[in-house]
Amino acid sequence: MGLFKDYVSQTRKPEGFLGKMMVNGMNGGHARMADWGISHLKEISPGEIVEIGCGGGRNAGELLKKYPLSHVTAIDYSDVSVRKATEYNADMIKQGRCEVMQGDVSALTLPEEKYDLATAFETIYFWPGIEKCFAQVAKILKPGGVFLIVNESDGMDETGLKFEKIIEGMKCHTVKEIEEALKIAGFSRIRSDHHESKPWITVIGGK
Ligand SMILES: C[S@@+](CC[C@H](N)C(=O)[O-])C[C@H]1O[C@@H](n2cnc3c(N)ncnc32)[C@H](O)[C@@H]1O
Repeated sequence: MGLFKDYVSQTRKPEGFLGKMMVNGMNGGHARMADWGISHLKEISPGEIVEIGCGGGRNAGELLKKYPLSHVTAIDYSDVSVRKATEYNADMIKQGRCEVMQGDVSALTLPEEKYDLATAFETIYFWPGIEKCFAQVAKILKPGGVFLIVNESDGMDETGLKFEKIIEGMKCHTVKEIEEALKIAGFSRIRSDHHESKPWITVIGGK
């Protein structure tokens, strides 16, 4: 279990050599699920987007393509993730459409009420108390802003629960738990979807 546990634990906060390997794999490994999640964003045209727990930065890049007039701030508390996301989005950074920053969602220092859209792909499992962290997200969203959460575990699937036992600090939340935490954090207009054949979920809340 030693090396396997060390490797999969890199999903929580990629560090060092194993972390670099993990971040390189995540961009491709999460792509289909992330695109399914992004397809749930309808009838919005966000100008300012914040992509939280951005990992290797691929989803920030997809959001920039989907919303050609947008600016994306991608944040992650892992310096390995920040470096990879910066490299991945280098052209967009040069064009002034993207910035990648190191930051912890539990204590966001981004400007309040700035963002139209916040996204979180495969990351809330590791957030230290989702209610508290969702309140941080609410703080930086404009009134009317949207928060999209996408997870490949619905909190009840065998694989998710297996990893929850192996990775310290990981919690696979159910849709109901996420919805409740969003309400407590001040979100409304909450809607969710479950993939028809996989344990993938999206939960969307409005500020
Ligand atoms: C499993 S990876 C997912 C990366 C990317 N969103 C994707 O879907 O490929 C989880 C990411 O969330 C980041 N993360 C976890 N907890 C965080 C926190 N409290 N603040 C900021 N980033 C966090 C990790 O550093 C890691 O890069």
